[in-house]
Amino acid sequence: MSIICKDFGSCDGKSVEQYTLIGNGGLEADILTYGATVRALRFSGVDTVCGYDDLDGYINGKSYQGASVGRYGNRIANAEFTLGGTKYTLDRNNNKACLHGGNSGFSHRVWEVCSAGGDEPSVKLYFHSDDGEGGFPGNLDEYVTYTVTDSNEFLIKYEAVSDKDTVFNPTCHAYFNPSGTGETALDVFLTVNADEFTAVNSELIPTENRAVNMTPFDFRKGKRVGCDLVAKYDQIELVKGYDHNFILNGKEPAATLFSDKTGIAIECYTTEPGIQVYTATNLDEPCGKGGKPLRRFDAVCLETQHFPNSPNRPDFPSTVLYAGEHFESETVYKFIKK
Ligand code: GAL
Repeated sequence: MSIICKDFGSCDGKSVEQYTLIGNGGLEADILTYGATVRALRFSGVDTVCGYDDLDGYINGKSYQGASVGRYGNRIANAEFTLGGTKYTLDRNNNKACLHGGNSGFSHRVWEVCSAGGDEPSVKLYFHSDDGEGGFPGNLDEYVTYTVTDSNEFLIKYEAVSDKDTVFNPTCHAYFNPSGTGETALDVFLTVNADEFTAVNSELIPTENRAVNMTPFDFRKGKRVGCDLVAKYDQIELVKGYDHNFILNGKEPAATLFSDKTGIAIECYTTEPGIQVYTATNLDEPCGKGGKPLRRFDAVCLETQHFPNSPNRPDFPSTVLYAGEHFESETVYKFIKK
């Protein structure tokens, strides 16, 4: 195993580094201290994660490429919630909603490195968010640890503690394509172990839980991403693709991407109750890695998380992090060559 650290520019007067974790099984991960970003996951000669060539791409990009999003990944309706009798007002950065933590989200900040090393290469990053930042209560300390294991797993561990009751929902916003970056993901096979998903309104806020059975949302047996995109079904027509939270069954793996072009499968395991499956439906940026454009349907995000708008939905699994409580969650992306 080895770790290579290189300079990746600077932002807000702070230097940014890229850590490359090289595992014994052949999987390599490039991690940026900017946004605790997963910049690349190379396996069997293929880079499976979209992104940019330089730091400016990550600073100016609008699509959260590979970033660790927070304090609350996904949307909070009307950018407000009430906790312990106090109403909190957040940044409105997505129509009326607060998306991915608002204007000062963790995805666009420089994180500190706590440690790097280990038998299986690992880097632990730290970010402090002030009480009131983006409207969220509590000084929050978050740690994200990325590890590449000998059996080609990319392991993500989230830990956090707050000094006031708050809400917290971290996720990894990597744009995966096992066919390789710059390729379409429409012909990639997607499996999601979910019997239900949360249907949404036009602001992508969950309205009701729906069974996937007999709908284009049934990925339980696996099918190509593009298979049902022209289906006459309200949720497909509304979003023009998939940008929905799937309610996981608890069967493992939670989801799988497989390319029959490269033979690479990426299996996702998680302690989280949901996955936002986003088929890069709005992606349209002129210059990604290698100067190639980032286009719609070039990737699939498998954002393991609690459900959107949970702070306003007592019927959903809770995203409340109580003062002094230790938050922990884990997600694994396992790479297999078939
Ligand atoms: C996803 C979200 C999409 C879009 C994307 C970033 O998590 O569900 O609607 O905002 O992030 O471009």
